[in-house]
Amino acid sequence: MNGNDLTRGYSDGDVDTNPTRNRDLGTIVTERYSRRQTLLGGLGASTAAFLGTTLLAACDSDVFGGSDSGGAFTVSAGNSGTTTAGNLVMLSGTQVAGAASAVQWTQVGGPAVELTGADGNVATFIAPAVAGSTPLEFRFEAAGGGQSSAQNTVVTVQPARLGFQAVAHNFDDVVTVPAGYTVTVMTCLGDPLAANVPAYANDGTDTNFGERIGDHGDALSWYGLSAAGTRDDDSSNRGLLVQNFENLNVDYLHPNGPTNVGSGPRPAAEAIKEIEAHGVGVIEYRDTGNRTWGWEQDSPFNRRITPNTPMVFHGPVRGSEFLRTVASTDSTTGRGTINNCANGYAPWGTNLTCEENWAGYFRRSGDDAARTPRELAGLRRYGVSSANGNYAWSSAGSDPVFRRWDARATGASALADYRNEPNQFGWVVEIDPYDPNSTPRKRTALGRMGHEGAWVGKLASGQKLAVYMGDDSRREYFYKFVSAASWNPSDAQAPDRLAVGDKYLDAGTLYVARFNPDGSGAWLPLVHGQVPNRPAAGSDPEYVFSSQADVLVNTRLAADAFGATPMDRPEWTAVNPETGEIYLTLTNNNAGGRPLDGTDAANPRHYNDPKGASNQLGNPNGHIVRIREAGDNPAATEFVWDVYLFGADSAEAGDDVNLSGLEASNDFSSPDGLWFSRSQNPAGQIRPLLWLQTDDGALTDRTNNQMLAALPGSVGDGGSRTITNVGAGGATARQATLVGAAATTATLKRFLTGPKECEITGVDSTPDGRTLFVGIQHPGERGSANSPTSNWPQSQSGNVSGRPRSAVVAITRDDGGVVGL
Ligand code: FEO
Ligand code: CA
Ligand code: CA
Repeated sequence: MNGNDLTRGYSDGDVDTNPTRNRDLGTIVTERYSRRQTLLGGLGASTAAFLGTTLLAACDSDVFGGSDSGGAFTVSAGNSGTTTAGNLVMLSGTQVAGAASAVQWTQVGGPAVELTGADGNVATFIAPAVAGSTPLEFRFEAAGGGQSSAQNTVVTVQPARLGFQAVAHNFDDVVTVPAGYTVTVMTCLGDPLAANVPAYANDGTDTNFGERIGDHGDALSWYGLSAAGTRDDDSSNRGLLVQNFENLNVDYLHPNGPTNVGSGPRPAAEAIKEIEAHGVGVIEYRDTGNRTWGWEQDSPFNRRITPNTPMVFHGPVRGSEFLRTVASTDSTTGRGTINNCANGYAPWGTNLTCEENWAGYFRRSGDDAARTPRELAGLRRYGVSSANGNYAWSSAGSDPVFRRWDARATGASALADYRNEPNQFGWVVEIDPYDPNSTPRKRTALGRMGHEGAWVGKLASGQKLAVYMGDDSRREYFYKFVSAASWNPSDAQAPDRLAVGDKYLDAGTLYVARFNPDGSGAWLPLVHGQVPNRPAAGSDPEYVFSSQADVLVNTRLAADAFGATPMDRPEWTAVNPETGEIYLTLTNNNAGGRPLDGTDAANPRHYNDPKGASNQLGNPNGHIVRIREAGDNPAATEFVWDVYLFGADSAEAGDDVNLSGLEASNDFSSPDGLWFSRSQNPAGQIRPLLWLQTDDGALTDRTNNQMLAALPGSVGDGGSRTITNVGAGGATARQATLVGAAATTATLKRFLTGPKECEITGVDSTPDGRTLFVGIQHPGERGSANSPTSNWPQSQSGNVSGRPRSAVVAITRDDGGVVGL
């Protein structure tokens, strides 16, 4: 017999809304039996959660316990059964004889669960996370007229597993999820975020992106709202989605593509649209019942933060000469944020958005003679050297909105131009999503770099707080910030959230990682007075740091000076909520960045991954490093590490490349997004699920970009290994490394593939884990206005026309269980 399959559309509330106490139980049973049949009839042969009992089973039940004198009525709690963590379990009690005026389900054994509908015949719960097979016992009791009857049933819960069928490689122009899952397209590029903003025409004529969803949606986070509209971290049916808008597909933003995008002059209207399509959005999402998701166009919480939004600087760089411009004469304020890539979720309820590839937006060339050698060292190290800026915005007019993107030293001093405007970017920016009028704060203590993300480490009362950060460029570094203040759990719900941010993020120590060949590592403090001078490099003389502000503005120079380990493009970080171990994606590197004779233990591979007739040399598939802090102390200055996973093309890679034993159901390349399930639900407990998203160009001859789910072990679960790397022409080199336990189809599985030419980036769930939100970025990125190469998201519902749009999808399990389990 099948378990009690719950079809999509089933609602705990629907079944249990009506109070049973004053109604005839026979009527109720008949109604519910009928409803169950309807539900089952709609299911077909769908897969389902295995559940404890069924109403049908109860009908032939022959064991009745706890009945009162004379057997005036008797009940059945149904047959006992087995399930796995994260499944939605339905308990179906029945009255076999007699009529009770009240029924009640109670839990009498095992780890406590939250029963929904406990005062009705049908109660449900989510099977909890367990370390081993664990019985949960429940009692169904009916009473009335001074008599009662009760019976117990046992649901045995098995540990979490990846409870879905792997999605195969494919090139479909849709988001593909496993059987038994449903995709709902949520907010898309251009969707209006205020009542009076027209719907998106998606033909290039739309304006006012300061009140629309921006382009290239990236990292996203859920911030729960109560029914009353206040912060509620446990709310899974109403919340604010905060999403970054990283970049643009200019071909689709204008009627016939952009005008003079290379070197200008740009039409002001085009430039304004492109500028405003960057930044961050706060959007209210709502479940209107049964995980039927929608969003609120006119929510008072909706907000767009753009490159023009006023910001304030906090931390050691505030007020320093480095930030001084004609528009920021006291170096405390600035405007906006740009190229926001990954992010962080602060435990006091704010968002940490990160400025990644900001350098290319500025025009800055030909002014070397007006720059000091120190300025030039910083500008070169950060790559602020574009002839016109990515989109030549400064060519659109003299208004500061455009002029500020020209960072040439053209005035009499820094107070007369925007030469220091690039120093106003490259920061972690804290946003309070619950207060649409709040001014975002740039947290300079966390350093200036190509910030990919900023993930807070596992918290412990009385310990320091750590924030882990990748700097996404080839041969850049892995950082952590350690707060000066020790964590006080009462700060988590403090009303002034940005003041809590001041406490933990404005004072502390920034460190950069060095990975040693023996599996140990060190955190090197980027503290003025401890940082050595940066040796002369190229045409730059030795760099002597003048202040802590200098160290933080020129973080990369300071890390160079200390001899940190250059990595294969550090992307997202993620923290295992159980173990506290920190994972870091290293998305890929080319042969220049990782030559055959330039590998190290933490970046150990150099190989060729052929793609058609092309060679891809270096580390084109990337890998994932993980660390454990000494003593599990966030403030530790030492750690141990290994390589958790290596990307590979499983069809072609040999054993010294496919070091994690990937196969077709779980091979991947270029890991980028990385996130552990929330610890508020079974997917994030005991053995938490890790989600892995790709931004890949190397394996795209096999499949569109993808997201996988994993059940990782811990640092040291594999062993040491010496591999033979093979470079161009067959040259070889040996490299010792530390390889985590090989993946299996039980510990790593492809969960999703995206539409054509997209990147998968951005992931969070509702606190209950029953809805997963995922970002689909730049579908059809190589097409043009007149010949789009993707029609997503229209294509998700079969309409293969129109320009593609980046969008968020909500993914739910048809049977109501926790996504991924
Ligand atoms: Fe914006 Fe490193 O991805
Ligand atoms: Ca990214
Ligand atoms: Ca290949």
